[in-house]
Amino acid sequence: MVKVNLSGCSSFVSQAAYDAISTDALAAFDTLMGGNGAGNDFLGWKTLPSQVPDSLIAEFEAIRDDWKFKGIDLVVVIGIGGSYLGARCAIEALSHSFASLMGGKKDAPAVVFAGNSLSEEYLAELMDLVAGRNTACIVISKSGTTTEPAVAFRVVKQAIEQRYADAAERIIAITDAKKGALKTLATQEGYKTFVVPDNVGGRFSVLTPVGLLPILLAGFDVRRMLEGAREMQLALQERSMENPAVKYAAMRNLLYKEYGKTIEILVSYNPKFQYLGEWWKQLYGESEGKDGKGIFPASVNFTTDLHSMGQFIQDGNRILFETVVNVENSNREVTIGLDSQNLDQLNYLAGRRVEHCNAMAMLGTKLAHIDGGVPQIEVSVERIDAFNLGGLFYFFEFACGVSAYLLGVNPFNQPGVEAYKKNMFALLGKPGYEEQGAVLRERLG
Ligand code: PA5
Repeated sequence: MVKVNLSGCSSFVSQAAYDAISTDALAAFDTLMGGNGAGNDFLGWKTLPSQVPDSLIAEFEAIRDDWKFKGIDLVVVIGIGGSYLGARCAIEALSHSFASLMGGKKDAPAVVFAGNSLSEEYLAELMDLVAGRNTACIVISKSGTTTEPAVAFRVVKQAIEQRYADAAERIIAITDAKKGALKTLATQEGYKTFVVPDNVGGRFSVLTPVGLLPILLAGFDVRRMLEGAREMQLALQERSMENPAVKYAAMRNLLYKEYGKTIEILVSYNPKFQYLGEWWKQLYGESEGKDGKGIFPASVNFTTDLHSMGQFIQDGNRILFETVVNVENSNREVTIGLDSQNLDQLNYLAGRRVEHCNAMAMLGTKLAHIDGGVPQIEVSVERIDAFNLGGLFYFFEFACGVSAYLLGVNPFNQPGVEAYKKNMFALLGKPGYEEQGAVLRERLG
């Protein structure tokens, strides 16, 4: 269960200001719960944990078994933004840190990602990998028209078609139920398809086939993940300032609106959560950064980044606050041994677990950063596993909805991302963009 602790903010904000924003936060909660705010046709994610049918998971398991029977040992998952980050986040968090060097997860294919950039080198190197492996592919695009995954898919699809007579059985498309180029292509080629529900936006789609299928194929327990999300869904129904999502939303907006904290850094003390930071940045950045408003979401991994960004956080421009994701228990144990010579002078730690050092680093950093003018919100989970990850996904999604309404923006649109796309299409010479292309080329000289 996710818990939120605001004690690291108490020396920065007044109780009166917190009480005042609490009223607005509860009103934003009502808007989200009542489904009567901006973008309310995109609220399908709210009930996903209790609505994903077990038959869907059973279908995914059948695909897993079929691909296992075919000896498939590499699954290329193609997608960008919300069609990629949730699965990547979960797989990175749940995998052994050295999985690829240890021969991968037992009984599961290697899952790699593509279509999340336009790097030619990355794709060429992916083709090197594909050439030596028994490959299948999942292509994910809600709109079905996004350029990055479309380019990657064309390359991967051709490689698969050249090598396998059963190519169509090795490709799954996850897209809109009715529209988009990917839907048309999948229908024509006879691919198995799964639907991204109309009322679930990309960055809220991790608990749809978009996230669940790749996570299951990578060998992880998506039923447990849904259970965790379900428990969180129930807990977040409570209309109170004890509701952790409302608490988090209220405090981050207060720090932003009243105290000039325009940057929020999501901090993790476990490298397995690096991609939680990436997923969270997209969720909050795309949901809140609009109409000239929004907290800029950044992320760091401590203690690693204490030796790079630590200086700025401690001592630089005081526009920051931190949200620390505290994992209460490590899944593994390493105890520091005694050394008779003690040349490294670490015997004072002998018998201690490394996790104890990590916990002390976290507490020491908390106090130092508070002394340096950086408020801290703490979001705690019991451990890193499928259950807690499901809870964390739902928690951050729900809090994002409350927070964006509190900020006064529509959490569920992303008008800003169209600008680069139009320019790129114009410069690439996409039919229909000729005039704009000429204007841009002149501007670029
Ligand atoms: O959250 C969003 O809606 C976006 O980040 C999309 O997920 C991203 O742009 C990819 O879009 P699509 O799934 O349509 O290819």
